[in-house]
Amino acid sequence: MIRPETPADGAAIAQVLRQAFPGPQEAALVEQLRRRPDFRPALSLVAEVAGTVVGYVLLTPIAIEPVAGPPTLSLALAPVAVQPAWQRQGIGARLVEAGLVAGGAAGFGSVILLGHPDYYPRFGFGPASRWGIRAPFAVPDAAFMARELQPGALAAAAGTVRYPAEFAAV
Ligand SMILES: CC(C)(COP(=O)(O)OP(=O)(O)OC[C@H]1O[C@@H](n2cnc3c(N)ncnc32)[C@H](O)[C@@H]1OP(=O)(O)O)[C@@H](O)C(=O)NCCC(=O)NCCS
Repeated sequence: MIRPETPADGAAIAQVLRQAFPGPQEAALVEQLRRRPDFRPALSLVAEVAGTVVGYVLLTPIAIEPVAGPPTLSLALAPVAVQPAWQRQGIGARLVEAGLVAGGAAGFGSVILLGHPDYYPRFGFGPASRWGIRAPFAVPDAAFMARELQPGALAAAAGTVRYPAEFAAV
């Protein structure tokens, strides 16, 4: 079952993140992002099996800033994690798909992520450079990806992604 997080899930989410990633940075990032005023529980989803949290995905509002003109509001999908014992059973895919649905339902037109170029194209992601969207840090072109949730949402979005300051520590 995929569902939005509740206040009771914090410790279980941190545990999943600490188990899935080699270091504690992602768990710390989520705890910091949860304290932001723009944090939305509806975009912070857990995968639960028999009452235990085994997976997690977060989408955080970001801005794509053009050289001139107004920014485009988008979402960063990060992190996504599944407890190692539950990986390769489709839970990660269900989390990503549920995250995309939740982002669209919340009114966002697109999602940006940094991830493995072999994994995310199956969810409709392609190189963000296709829309002239750049990362604010050096990254291989194929790993910095975007996906429209509403057709045309990125048509005039060329620019540089600005992440919340909390991401700088990761
Ligand atoms: C990435 C992750 C969330 C996928 O979860 P999952 O439940 O195993 O995913 P699914 O079962 O839906 O999909 C498995 C597929 O993803 C692929 N995959 C998983 N992790 C991958 C990675 N880091 N790079 C490339 N492919 C990966 C597998 O090869 C598999 O592909 P296949 O079905 O073609 O063999 C999980 O492996 C994980 O928590 N990894 C550690 C944390 C991480 O790296 N997160 C992503 C960066 S934020």
